[in-house]
Amino acid sequence: MSINTHILTDSDEDISFAAELLKEDKLVAFPTETVYGLGGNALSPTAAQAIYSAKGRPSDNPLIVHICDPNSVYELAENVPDTAKTLMEAFWPGPLTIILPKSEVVPKQTTGGLDTVAIRLPSHPAALSLIKKSGIYIAAPSANSSGRPSPTTAKHVADDLNGRIEAIIDGGPVGIGIESTIVDLTSEIPTILRPGFITKKNLEAIIGEVRIDPAIIEADSNLRPKAPGMKYTHYAPSGELYIVETAQGRDKNTEAVAKKINELYNEKKAEGHVVRVLAPEEHCSFYNEADVIPVGNTTDGVTVSARLYASLRECDAAKAEFIYSESFENYELGGAIMNRLLKAAGHKIIEV
Ligand code: TXA
Ligand code: MG
Repeated sequence: MSINTHILTDSDEDISFAAELLKEDKLVAFPTETVYGLGGNALSPTAAQAIYSAKGRPSDNPLIVHICDPNSVYELAENVPDTAKTLMEAFWPGPLTIILPKSEVVPKQTTGGLDTVAIRLPSHPAALSLIKKSGIYIAAPSANSSGRPSPTTAKHVADDLNGRIEAIIDGGPVGIGIESTIVDLTSEIPTILRPGFITKKNLEAIIGEVRIDPAIIEADSNLRPKAPGMKYTHYAPSGELYIVETAQGRDKNTEAVAKKINELYNEKKAEGHVVRVLAPEEHCSFYNEADVIPVGNTTDGVTVSARLYASLRECDAAKAEFIYSESFENYELGGAIMNRLLKAAGHKIIEV
């Protein structure tokens, strides 16, 4: 059954309207500083079910609970350790999600059956205003259909979920473009379950030793990631995506990489395939102008993360069958960017 999806602005009036919808267990997509989220009442099993069904998402994949006041953590979680308080003070509002033992008020539908809960206090004004006006905690996964790249504009959301959700708040393109860093505080040593804008180094500067869940680094291991969502083939474009890099390390020797990409490109073009190349702006002139998609620039990782998912969606829109991407390791954000790109590529790497 299709519903009429309201496209709203981020005006006070529109956000108030959206807040009312949330109170009735309806679903509203809204911008955050990372990606657009698909919001529903986090304490309502009905709303949680509706989120899974709108996204086509497996219901064992837990949702992040969005709050607007740090004190809410004490209602949603139990045994809040000092490290949590320190992280909340240092990084909230902002793109950090923390995992804590859940309290009784959080239904298992929201946590995918787990005894822990993921909590985040976003910095985007429209997100904060929506949480405040609705007076509820908002469960929100990324507002894409399961398996598609996360949405970084309201249009991406509409492309995936139009007719399946009540409303979309259009707050323009997001700033960061990849999902929040997730840190698990229920393990002895705080553990990053998903890399993001807030890096291991940033966290360690505040709380000391932090581990990275080995399952998210190893490509072909049988390790089970602790964030259930990381086990699914996420972010995948429809075409075959390959990352081309040199043996000396990622994005060293640009010339050799460009030469290889052009070889591969020409080969597939000659066979009549639709091909796209992903490269930073400064390298676009190395490739066929008509088929290269710029992904940020070489000076700042956020320009890359902000464009990454949109560029994968552009490949889909062009019906690209083969996609060759330079690698984007050489930034402070490189780890988080390559985590997403490698997943999108199913870890297919061509070494020059
Ligand atoms: O930036 C973000 O975090 C965005 C915006 C909308 O806030 N949200 C987002 O949600 O990325 P989602 O559902 O697409 O990703 C949530 C990830 C999943 O990989 C899920 O498995 C993991 O968080 N997660 C949630 N609760 C968890 C828990 N209790 N334990 C371990 N992993 C958890
Ligand atoms: Mg997601």
